[in-house]
Amino acid sequence: MLVSGGGSNLAALLAAHGDPAYGARVVGVVSDTADAGGLTVARDAGVATAVVAPSDFADRAAWDAALAEAVRVFGPSLVVSAGFMRILGAPFLDRFGGRFGGRVINTHPALLPSFPGAHGVRDALAHGVKVTGCTVHLVDAGVDTGPIIAQRAVEVAADDDEASLHERIKTVERALLVDVVGRIARGGLVVDGRRARLLG
Ligand code: GRF
Repeated sequence: MLVSGGGSNLAALLAAHGDPAYGARVVGVVSDTADAGGLTVARDAGVATAVVAPSDFADRAAWDAALAEAVRVFGPSLVVSAGFMRILGAPFLDRFGGRFGGRVINTHPALLPSFPGAHGVRDALAHGVKVTGCTVHLVDAGVDTGPIIAQRAVEVAADDDEASLHERIKTVERALLVDVVGRIARGGLVVDGRRARLLG
């Protein structure tokens, strides 16, 4: 799992993965920053962690290679990006089959293809939408552009600010991510062009 922030999505997966019937286990957590709260969440659960910070590398390609190596040692069958605030480069995606091989997924706090990027909640609010939500999608070389696996809607309240709306989205997002990861682990995922379908 790839994290940069507090790791509430990670915590939700960790709460599910203890049950063998769930079908998936978090084997390792990698962050681009040693400050990520998600690292503490992982350590407290006894899950191995690694930090691969861009500032420790000469250039983007070297960081990308180091990130791929850090993930490889955990031997994941699925890479889950949840609040990981970096673009995954082509070498990383080639290595983990993210170019529609279905092995790298991301969760985004908006209904893609609307409001991609780092400020999906803020941008949706500023646009005045009445319904937004969250999306779990395959990662491709673009910014939040890969095939959509699952989405859930969240209504925008008249008095919402970015924080209140994001908190409500995150509640729905965590449940969606746990559901999708379990279904991929138990049944698999088929991807036909832009159309991704869960089999589990
Ligand atoms: C999630 O809403 C994710 O979609 C967004 O950042 C948030 C991460 O939350 N990009 P957490 O670190 O899992 O609590």
